[in-house]
Amino acid sequence: MSAGVIAIDGPAASGKGTLARRIAAAFGVPHLDTGLLYRAVAARCLAAGGLDDEAASIAAARALEVTGLDAEALRSAEIGAAASVVAARPGVRAALMDLQRRFAAQPGGAVLDGRDIGTVICPDAAAKLFVTATPEVRARRRLNELLGRGAPATYDAVLADIRTRDARDSGRAAAPLLQAPDALRLDTTDLDIEAAFAAAMALIAGKRRA
Ligand code: DC
Repeated sequence: MSAGVIAIDGPAASGKGTLARRIAAAFGVPHLDTGLLYRAVAARCLAAGGLDDEAASIAAARALEVTGLDAEALRSAEIGAAASVVAARPGVRAALMDLQRRFAAQPGGAVLDGRDIGTVICPDAAAKLFVTATPEVRARRRLNELLGRGAPATYDAVLADIRTRDARDSGRAAAPLLQAPDALRLDTTDLDIEAAFAAAMALIAGKRRA
């Protein structure tokens, strides 16, 4: 049986990316981290001189393909902040929409994670999760991830960055981060990855039985 589309949304460092990868592996379906698309657009703009040229950011989004994105290189805090800026532009979002919908239309199903998958990209998804955690816990996780990669970071700076990104991602007019009415909420504040994965799979199983 096809897993259908599983949409996973939530704020930065909520654990949605790790969960999405694990859920996709459990169902044997492909996974798309849609944040990488916005990160790739931002990286191309930064390499070309900056983020100010809106038309250039839209052109970069139109030229993007899902294959060959270097997740490691795109994972930096600088590119994350820049991605949040270009992601607020309706033209950039529109340019990336078909790409994401084509990915979601694969016959066996797919898992997509991002900010607007359940609300805008795949409103008819078979299951939708909205993954959250407190900003403090998310900052701690992101700090550990950055330090683990040898990147210089402090808790206060990471927490400030998370709060800025939350405000920008939730406050923008174009497809803001919000929970779809039919999304299942998963708060991972007090859960490690194993517990969060088990809870997510239980929610999805419940949804598919319903
Ligand atoms: O999930 P992430 O940190 O890789 O996302 C980077 C930025 O991209 C994030 O601040 C908001 C934006 N984004 C978005 O607007 N819509 C998505 N579906 C995914 C990411």
